[in-house]
Amino acid sequence: MAEVYITCRVFEEEIERLRAAGHTVEMRDHPGPICHAELLTKIAAAEALICLLSERIDAEVIAAAASLKIIANLGVGYDNIDVEGAHAAGVIVTNTPGALTETTADLAFALLLAAARRVVEGDRFVRAGDFLGWELVGSQLGLEVYGKRLGIVGMGKIGTAVARRGRLGFGMKILYHNRRRNEEGEKELAAVHVPLEKLLEESDFICVHTPLTPQTRHLFDRQAFARMKDSAILVNVARGPVVDEEALVQALATGEIAGAGIDVYEEEPAVHPGLVGLQERVVLSPHLGSATVATRRAMAKIAVDNVLSVLAGAPPLNPVA
Ligand code: DGY
Repeated sequence: MAEVYITCRVFEEEIERLRAAGHTVEMRDHPGPICHAELLTKIAAAEALICLLSERIDAEVIAAAASLKIIANLGVGYDNIDVEGAHAAGVIVTNTPGALTETTADLAFALLLAAARRVVEGDRFVRAGDFLGWELVGSQLGLEVYGKRLGIVGMGKIGTAVARRGRLGFGMKILYHNRRRNEEGEKELAAVHVPLEKLLEESDFICVHTPLTPQTRHLFDRQAFARMKDSAILVNVARGPVVDEEALVQALATGEIAGAGIDVYEEEPAVHPGLVGLQERVVLSPHLGSATVATRRAMAKIAVDNVLSVLAGAPPLNPVA
C-alpha cells in the first residue's frame, strides 16, 4: 500500500481511516509549517502529501517526490502550490472548497464589527480599569454598520456569504467587483457589479475575498487606499499579499482610511510592526478564517477523502484545475 506524509497534526480519526485502508502514515507532530529542507527529505518515498496552505510546495518538492500521486492541500486557497509543475509531473492537486465558506464569512464579519465598534479596544479599556462610567461623548465611539455600503472584492462563495450577512443581517447595500458577474448574488442580495475604482470610492466597508494570483498581488496599494473614503474600514481574510502592508500601515497612520480587520499577512507568521503598533480601529487575528473545530475536521476529512480516492485509483473529489 502507499506511504502518506502529513506535514501537520490532523485529527486521529483521519489517520485511522488512512491506516484502515492499508496505508502507512507519517504525521509531523510539531506546531507551525515544516521547513523546506525537512520536507524535501520526508517526501522522497511518499505517494500522497497532505500539507498546509502555509507550506511552499514548489518544483523542488515535486522533483524530490518521485512516487508522488497527490498533493492534498488543507485549505481552499492553493497559491502555495506550483500547480502547473505538479500537473506536468503527473501529480494531482486537491483543495477543500465549501467546508470553510460560512466559517470564514463569520470571521470576516466579526473583524468588520470589531474594528467598526472598537470591541478589542473596549476590552483592553475595561481590563485596564479605565471604565469609569457611561459617557455620551466618550473616547470609544465607533462607526455605524447598519445600512452602510459594503464592497466585496472577489464575489465567490466566501464573498457571497459575507455579502449575505451584510445584506440580510445588517441592511447593507452591496457593491462587488469580480472577474465574472455573479448573477445569483445580484438577484438574491441586490448586489451591484462595479469597477474596482467605484467600489473603492463608494464603500464604507471593503472585504477582500479574492484568491492570490499575479493579478491580485498588491491589488490594495497606495493608489487604492487613496481612493477609499477616510471613514472606510478594510477587512482581509483572503491572502496577505493581496494588500501591500506597507501602504496599509501608511493609510491607517495618516487617516487615509479609518480602520482595518486583518486575518492574513504578507509574510506570515510575521506581521508588519507598523500594523502591530496601530491600535485604534485596527483588529488583528492570526489567520483564523477556518478555525472552528467542525470546519477543521471537515477540511481534514475532505483532504483524506481525496487521498483515499486517488490512492485507490479513482479520480480526486476536489481537483484543482
Ligand atoms: C483557506 O483555506 O484558504 C483559508 O485561508 C483557511 O483559513
